Amino acid sequence: MSGHGEAIPMIARRSSGLHGEAHVPGDKSISHRSLILGAMAVGETRVTGLLEGQDVLDTASAMRAFGADVEKRGETWHVQGVGVGGFCEPGQVIDCGNSGTGVRLVMGAMATTAITATFTGDASLNKRPMARVTDPLALFGAQAHGRSGGRLPMTVIGARDPLPVRYATPVPSAQVKSAVLLAGLNAPGETVVIEREATRDHTERMLTGFGAVIETQDRAEGRVIVLHGQPELSPQTIVVPRDPSSAAFPVCAAIITEGSDVVVPNIGLNPTRAGLFFTLRDMGADLTFENMREEGGEPVADLRAKFSPDLVGIEVPPERAASMIDEYPVLSVVAAFARGTTHMPGVRELRVKESDRIDAMARGLRANGVDVDEGEDWWTVYGRGHGNVRGGAVTVSHLDHRIAMSFLVLGLATQDPVRVDDGGPIATSFPTFEPLMTALGADIAREA
Ligand code: S3P
Repeated sequence: MSGHGEAIPMIARRSSGLHGEAHVPGDKSISHRSLILGAMAVGETRVTGLLEGQDVLDTASAMRAFGADVEKRGETWHVQGVGVGGFCEPGQVIDCGNSGTGVRLVMGAMATTAITATFTGDASLNKRPMARVTDPLALFGAQAHGRSGGRLPMTVIGARDPLPVRYATPVPSAQVKSAVLLAGLNAPGETVVIEREATRDHTERMLTGFGAVIETQDRAEGRVIVLHGQPELSPQTIVVPRDPSSAAFPVCAAIITEGSDVVVPNIGLNPTRAGLFFTLRDMGADLTFENMREEGGEPVADLRAKFSPDLVGIEVPPERAASMIDEYPVLSVVAAFARGTTHMPGVRELRVKESDRIDAMARGLRANGVDVDEGEDWWTVYGRGHGNVRGGAVTVSHLDHRIAMSFLVLGLATQDPVRVDDGGPIATSFPTFEPLMTALGADIAREA
């Protein structure tokens, strides 16, 4: 069942010739950050192209609970910020729904203000580890009291006299990095985050846009990010680019579906996000980047994906993992239609997403006739080649939008239809997935 109501069983049947333009929604990572930084600026930030998925709507509610005014008028979201250190204490529990990004970034943003807030989420979020964020927040002087294993529900008591922090992130996580940087905004002096592997850098880019002083250097120890604390953030006008992680679904669907030719316009190719597209090309996919250009300091292109009958399995470079961490589920679907094996090492983080994504995909792929091996931080898909994937199973989405969408893409090219027990979670990140895919010609439907 989805977090917000009855389960929505869905089915995907073998399709042919996906065609047209797929306008995917705004970037989820950038949408969360627009609302949070808008709430921490002094004055009105305006945001267009915001992803109106449930995850982001929950972050909008959280910002209101901390005292910012957030409302949509016409096509524009208006955020009246209260300034760094200006959050008030929420009168209610903050429910972040399904969103790890939402809860971890908001915890960071409030952790250096002398207020107390209690956070909760759905059954998926309440299983996920929060100590990775509350450990560094404790160095600022914040306290966190949650369930065993550092799980939600959890109360965070913000530091009264925060200290700046120097923190080397033990896991490659943009959420952890961002929580520390957001906390550092209200600490005096310099807060430093060091990450061994570069993760998505939207927080750093956006902080610069809001007028904070933040410097990034690549050194022997990794990427070193230095933030100067207690800036006054100036409100911004933000146009949210379209989400490469959502683009992944129509792109991969076109690659495995006979006769397809699909254009997905205006996709950000920020190198910290675009790993999937390079991996697909390494596998022999007919994927081109058209009209390459720069928009708002980010590289952008129109992606054109065509049916690719001669895909080959590859070794996915582990150093690429951070730049495609959310795309492994749908990559494993493409790998099922390739000839040869696709080995995906260095992906331990997949085990602590909205679901254990290695386990969820491995079970569902096996049930549909695809062999998969797995270890703690790697998995291998034994490709069957185009036309040879059986399908026919009911798969379980485990409250995970990307698992649900990946199996629906799988069913577009299997011999027998693929069912998903609950497509409800898709609304967290890609509420228009179903109409967008069916408009391209995909045979995806809800079942009674
Ligand atoms: C995100 C970071 C990633 C990613 C998530 C969005 C972000 O999580 O999986 O969907 O916006 O910072 P981790 O930081 O846990 O790797």
